Amino acid sequence: MEKLVIKGPTPLKGEIKINGAKNAAVAILPATLLIDGICTLDNLPHISDVMISCEILEKLGAKITWNTKNCITIDTRHIDTTQTPLDLTSKFRASYYMIGSMLGRKGEIEVGMPGGCQLGARPIDQHIKGFEMLGATVSVGNGVIYAKADSLVGNSIYMDIVSVGATINIMLAAVLAKGTTTIDNAAKEPHVVDVANFLNAMGADIRGAGTDIIKINGVDRLNGNSTYSVVPDQIEAGTFMLAAVATKGDLLIKNCITKHLDSITAKIVEVGGIVEDFGDSLHVYCNHRPSKANIKTLPYPGFPTDLQPQMGVVLALADGTSIINESIWESRFQYTQELNKMGAQITAQGKTAIFEGVETLSGSPVCSTDLRAGAALIIAGTAANGVTEVHNLEHIDRGYEDIEEKFRSIGAQINRIKT
Ligand code: UD1
Repeated sequence: MEKLVIKGPTPLKGEIKINGAKNAAVAILPATLLIDGICTLDNLPHISDVMISCEILEKLGAKITWNTKNCITIDTRHIDTTQTPLDLTSKFRASYYMIGSMLGRKGEIEVGMPGGCQLGARPIDQHIKGFEMLGATVSVGNGVIYAKADSLVGNSIYMDIVSVGATINIMLAAVLAKGTTTIDNAAKEPHVVDVANFLNAMGADIRGAGTDIIKINGVDRLNGNSTYSVVPDQIEAGTFMLAAVATKGDLLIKNCITKHLDSITAKIVEVGGIVEDFGDSLHVYCNHRPSKANIKTLPYPGFPTDLQPQMGVVLALADGTSIINESIWESRFQYTQELNKMGAQITAQGKTAIFEGVETLSGSPVCSTDLRAGAALIIAGTAANGVTEVHNLEHIDRGYEDIEEKFRSIGAQINRIKT
């Protein structure tokens, strides 16, 4: 077991380089199963979700060569089995992308029920509905999902709810299907677009990703033989933007797509921070106590739920009373109890939390309840007076590369300690 020990307060200052996007990487890796060839993936974040994805691909027959820490070459010419290791697939959420990819590649797949952060109920009915409309049969039982299709045929699929995972999964299943698939009410997140860009670079014909309607014209084969660089991580960039504001710091955040961060920039400006936009980098600073703001999380281009806890730290320290309405996940306020241990005054009920801003937080032992909650607690520990210990690091390591090195490089006094 490990913990992070943080001594604050420290205004975070300096430059930080953003890695490739976790949520794009964990979809692009399974997407390589659709390729009857070899491809190279660059700008892959070196995080545990990526490592587990690679392990699953290898168990299915893929050959992976690590060129550098963030670049792999993957040969998916020989996929020998349709059974994924159930213990590995149930370790993280994105293992459900193996279903869309393997239905396309082999017409059959068995995966463990996806794991991941406990944010409330995480149904996959829209994924299943999409697969069935393409001609697959899907059964779920005893912690296992089994899907089979003699052939997949394009169809018009209306999503009852905007779902990132279902949009990507149906796109994966449709790439090699016969005819045209239309996904209506599709998710528009940057990683949906990135997966479509990757597949198109490998020979797919996907149009409209990033809008409400995605059209996939089925092709016979994906050839690969190409190098693809994963999009910069919108959520990692937003995490550091909010860390700059919460700690009254001054950060230059490099290697990001600033357009993806518009909703965060707008809220930072609303609370009194300054954001200078240079297209592929952002200068964010705030030399005073932030002011209150209200937030509602929404699908892209709305304020992302995955930055709600980090924004929560800013509002916990803000001047005045703020309200966050979480519209995506039903239990994403577990981190507020941890912040309250540090002196915050937050009342959370259901999907709403009221933040009575306090001037300072004080260090305390806290528990990372999920991935983004963990990032929020590191920010809180950096802003707080005294020593904070963050426990349960496995969540954080699933999604942030070298998190403590990065915080240390911008001034945080943070150390990882074995317990
Ligand atoms: C992805 C992200 C996650 C992020 C979330 C919302 C990955 C690996 N994870 O999760 O970090 O918090 O998007 O931006 O990319 N829903 C259904 N039925 C379904 C699917 C979803 O009702 O079949 C509901 C969910 O309960 C939730 C909402 O739709 O309320 C959005 O979920 P979705 O976009 O699918 O989230 P994930 O893809 O699981």
